[in-house]
Order: sequence, then structure tokens, then C-alpha cells
Amino acid sequence: MTNVLITGSSSGIGLETAKVLREQGCNVFRTGRRHVEDEHYLSVELSCFEHAKILYEKVIEEFGNIDVLINNAGEYYYSPIERVQTYDIERVMLLNLSIPYYLASLCVSQMKEKRFGRIINISSISASVGEANASLYAATKAGLYGMTKSLALELAQYNITVNCISPGWVETQLMADINEEDKAEILDVVPQRRFIQPIEISNLIKYLISEEAKGLTGQNINLCAGLSVGS
Ligand SMILES: NC(=O)c1ccc[n+]([C@@H]2O[C@H](COP(=O)([O-])OP(=O)(O)OC[C@H]3O[C@@H](n4cnc5c(N)ncnc54)[C@H](OP(=O)(O)O)[C@@H]3O)[C@@H](O)[C@H]2O)c1
Repeated sequence: MTNVLITGSSSGIGLETAKVLREQGCNVFRTGRRHVEDEHYLSVELSCFEHAKILYEKVIEEFGNIDVLINNAGEYYYSPIERVQTYDIERVMLLNLSIPYYLASLCVSQMKEKRFGRIINISSISASVGEANASLYAATKAGLYGMTKSLALELAQYNITVNCISPGWVETQLMADINEEDKAEILDVVPQRRFIQPIEISNLIKYLISEEAKGLTGQNINLCAGLSVGS
């Protein structure tokens, strides 16, 4: 049985992925801040190292080990740079970059021992194409890709793969604050003129953790309806 930890799986991409992987027969541990009725779920604040450690220990207690770590919890942060507060810099860096790194550091020893592991970091298209007023978010998401490439090299000989998925605009809660007019403007620059659905990301994750994908490591996959190519 494959044991999977998906952070940020109380909604959106994480929740859909949990459903898809459970259908595949995986043991999936979910997290979020809200309360959720699920035997393998913990409500945790993931901009905090102590909570991340508690989460890791809880999953180990329940599953024994983690074969697949999906660093998905994240916050979109939009603001002109001169209005960004130090508190926000610290919080967004922790949630989107430092904690994913920390969770990977906790999982690696037993993955090495088992000579199997999959680490998937959910980045964003904002990391590679740039987005005005999203510099803090973009910095954290680009950091995930740097971490992905170096870890992929470090862990290659242990049958551990590390990859990044960079979604374009996905129809989830994260977009809830965007009004209809702005959504129409966004679609004008998306080559396929549509939002990505969470299931599309989940199906890519399903492939990345499969045996067929064992040679795919250190990569960033833009799943973005053509946005990374141009408009
Ligand atoms: N939607 C997009 O267009 C898009 C595009 C590119 C990349 N992404 C990335 O995809 C990932 C998933 O986002 P989504 O679109 O599925 O959004 P979502 O539906 O808002 O899901 C975000 C998840 O992260 C959790 N979370 C947020 N802040 C947290 C915190 N401080 N501590 C612990 N958990 C926290 C949320 O839990 P609670 O709500 O229960 O707190 C939720 O489960 C994110 O990393 C995001 O940056 C999304």
C-alpha cells in the first residue's frame, strides 16, 4: 500500500487529488486549517515549523512511513511590493516554501531506507512567466523549483523522484475573490480560453507517482492551458 501525505487537501487541487489517489487504493493523509470529518486528517497551520513536525509525527504514527509527499498547501498573495508587510513575507515564505522544504527533509531518511519515494511540489506558472504584483508568491513558487532540481539530483540513486507541477489558472477556492469581469480578462490571455480543472492536476500526480514515471525527475511541468507559451 502506498502511503501519501497531501498538504492543503481540505479543498481544491489537494482534495481532488486525495479522492483520485484513494480510488487508486492509496492510504492518503489530508490536511487543512478547517475542521474536516476524515479519519486520516489533521487541522494544522502550515506556516509554522512546530505544527509541521506534529503533522509528520501523526502521519508516521498512523501509516508507519510516507512514500509520497505532495507539497500542495499554499496561498496566493497579490500586492504591490511596497505594500507588502514583513509579517506577510515571513508567513507566505514559510507556507509556500520553507515548510515544503522542511517536510521533505523529514520524509527523506525513511524514503532512502525503503529505496522508494515521490516528492511533488505544487508550484505555479507565476514562477516562470512572472506576474506583476505577485512577486512574493512568485518568489516562493520559483524557490520550489530550485529545491526540486537539487533534491532530484541528491536523491536520484535512491529511486526517489522529485518533481514540480506548475498550474496555470485552476478553478478552485483560491480564485474565489476574483470577480467575473477580471475572470473574463484572465481568460482572454489563456490560449485555450478556459480554466484548468483540479482533476487535470490530480491525474498528472497519479501518473508521477506511478511506476511508469520512475524516470521522470527534477522536472517542472506547466499544466496551464498554454499560458506558459504565450498568449
Ligand atoms: N488555483 C490556481 O489557479 C492555482 C494556480 C497555480 C498554483 N496553485 C497552487 O495550488 C495549490 C493548491 O491551491 P488550490 O487552488 O487548490 O487552492 P485552495 O482550494 O484554496 O486550497 C488551498 C489548501 O491549502 C490549505 N492552506 C492554505 N493556507 C494554509 C495555512 N496557512 N496552513 C495550512 N493549510 C493552509 C487550505 O486549507 P484551509 O482552507 O482548510 O485552511 C486548502 O486545503 C497552492 O499551492 C496554490 O498556490 C493554484
